[in-house]
Amino acid sequence: MKQKNTQVICLDGPSGVGKGTICLAVAGHLGWHILDSGSLYRITALQVSRLFPDVEAKTIEAAQLADIALNLSVSYEQMDQNLVILLDGEDITQQIRTEEMGAKASQIAAIPAVREALLARQRAFLQQPGLVADGRDMGTVVFPDAVLKIYLTASPEERALRRYKQLKDKGIDVNLSSLVEDLRVRDDRDMNRKTAPLKPASDAIIIDTTELNIEQVTGEVMNWVGQRVG
Ligand code: DC
Repeated sequence: MKQKNTQVICLDGPSGVGKGTICLAVAGHLGWHILDSGSLYRITALQVSRLFPDVEAKTIEAAQLADIALNLSVSYEQMDQNLVILLDGEDITQQIRTEEMGAKASQIAAIPAVREALLARQRAFLQQPGLVADGRDMGTVVFPDAVLKIYLTASPEERALRRYKQLKDKGIDVNLSSLVEDLRVRDDRDMNRKTAPLKPASDAIIIDTTELNIEQVTGEVMNWVGQRVG
């Protein structure tokens, strides 16, 4: 049941900083819902590439892209311990996690009409008992009244290394220097777009995680949760 006073915690920050992992840990501690807003941009990118194979998104009309975003038939289902994402009933959980889809998501996320089209869908995740939302503009645009806004950062080299290890663990062979370059391009696009660029909200708490492990970051966020969340 959605309620006006439902509390939300925002975790924003650049690619590969570990927002998703921290979001899961914090939501797990609190028993709250999760919004992985990046997944919505990735799903939109996947749907665009299916409907317009071999066409660059920037050559497609913004209104058409927004229409695709608005009409996505998506559901998030908990199966065993895993969250499964279904698009038109098909499991696309793994397909949207590629570096290629991340880059495409970042490109379409720069289009204001696409962002506008995904706004209501993101806000609909705000349900009792509370929401932990991760992304780039959770604290600045989507949930400006959030009870707690955290902005996570880490050096690009450290973020690339984390992504590298994650992909290696999944058996995916990647080149570290190309990951650093991909992150640099994505940071640049996400931080410098005109609409809802990646930046800390003026009332966000900034945590540099370069020298911290997951438990330490989770601990620090949970300290803030203890102070702010009733
Ligand atoms: O968090 P992610 O890597 O899954 O996000 C993929 C891209 O989607 C990211 O590079 C920029 C875009 N994005 C966004 O613009 N705003 C958000 N709130 C979340 C993601």
